[in-house]
Amino acid sequence: MSLLDTPLRLGGVTVRNRLYRAPVLEGAGDGDDAAATYQRHFVTNAEHGVGLIVQGSSCIWPEGRSSPGMTCVDSREKMLRFAPMLDAVHAAGAKVFLQLGHAGIYAMEAWHEPYASRRQGPILAASPLPWFVRPSFRGVPVHVMTGDEVRAMAGRYGEVAAWAREAGYDGIQLGSANAKLLDQFLSPFYNRRNDEFGGSLANRARVLRLIREAVAERAGADFACSVKVPAEVAPLGLPHSSQQEAIELARLAAEWGFDAVTPVIVSVLPDTTLARGDAPTNLRANKAMAERLRRAAPNRSRRASLRFGYWWAARRAPFKPVWNRELFAAVKATVPIPVFAVGGIRTAEEVNDVLDSGHADLVGIGRPFYAEPDLAARILAGDGAPRACRNSNRCVPAQMLGMPGACYNPAAHRRSGE
Ligand SMILES: Cc1cc2nc3c(=O)[nH]c(=O)nc-3n(C[C@H](O)[C@H](O)[C@H](O)COP(=O)(O)O)c2cc1C
Repeated sequence: MSLLDTPLRLGGVTVRNRLYRAPVLEGAGDGDDAAATYQRHFVTNAEHGVGLIVQGSSCIWPEGRSSPGMTCVDSREKMLRFAPMLDAVHAAGAKVFLQLGHAGIYAMEAWHEPYASRRQGPILAASPLPWFVRPSFRGVPVHVMTGDEVRAMAGRYGEVAAWAREAGYDGIQLGSANAKLLDQFLSPFYNRRNDEFGGSLANRARVLRLIREAVAERAGADFACSVKVPAEVAPLGLPHSSQQEAIELARLAAEWGFDAVTPVIVSVLPDTTLARGDAPTNLRANKAMAERLRRAAPNRSRRASLRFGYWWAARRAPFKPVWNRELFAAVKATVPIPVFAVGGIRTAEEVNDVLDSGHADLVGIGRPFYAEPDLAARILAGDGAPRACRNSNRCVPAQMLGMPGACYNPAAHRRSGE
């Protein structure tokens, strides 16, 4: 039996093999058809052999999504809608973790005009906005969370995790990278607090420790709880979390009882560094998308800065196979808990090499699953490689604008049909 086919224990759950679907937003939204959308994606993945599915990020509060296609899991009733979907995925043999998060200052209520104009409360922040991003936030009310509010947020994660368990999820992953609110606490780029949630790495990460405790208390200590561990890159030498700090954070996560870590190298800004590849060209070329962007960002300079962000990230972070390897291998050598690999992992050869080299315990693939739901079966058979995904990143602006999670590259579809 190959390592890829070996089951793995994560908290109280056993995953049948070492291949997982990395969280890529499904664009399921919040409507009555959300469960059906997830079911369509996940049951197909499960039938083709994926061991674990990490569902794209869902928001713990009604405001705080980074895009309209994200689901809010802000009540028990809304969470329990997913129970039949989870039964169907389980029947097909896979386990499902729910990623939980909040976008903080990058919540769509800050930038997406239809939502900004209906905003109920201010944008939540770990600290006052860094000077570097301030020009994009003119007129946006920002609230720096008090210590009590941070503690209440940790309790909220526990409450939502308990609902997730009741619905049938097998665990959660904290969306603590990619410049989201938890990352805004972890990162010295954003966090300049001088209370117990700022300063040293252990202080900046204290919110994760409180969440881990709340999840154990509310959902049960055996409910699997995993966390993304970011190392950051920043423009102009601005403050950021180093790889050394990410390794130390993973060590703290293990000490605090997390069941697994996913180390990733990302930008301090919410750009495509997390999904290395080309700058998406469809923001202008796809008429429906261009129109959605115009409505979301009527201000030309905001649209221009979004396009510039994509272009700049593609220049700085072009696609590279298995680009997070240096970091996840270093974490794996340091911590006693399972390590999830992700980032540019494409072929069966790469998947097996990561596992056989002992560089990670579970290997994730993200974007290719949009166009190739059968990819897992080919990888598990030992000779698979994506036939369609070329990392065009055309899926990225689509999810930002609330369109379905899917492949938007026509050339990829022609190739997959070859
Ligand atoms: C459209 C899109 C949506 C994503 N959504 C999430 C998300 O909800 N949560 C998360 O942690 N990462 C998210 N990611 C990052 C992926 O999980 C993954 O780390 C990244 O795509 C690199 O893996 P890949 O090269 O196999 O695609 C997203 C990436 C893309 C392209």
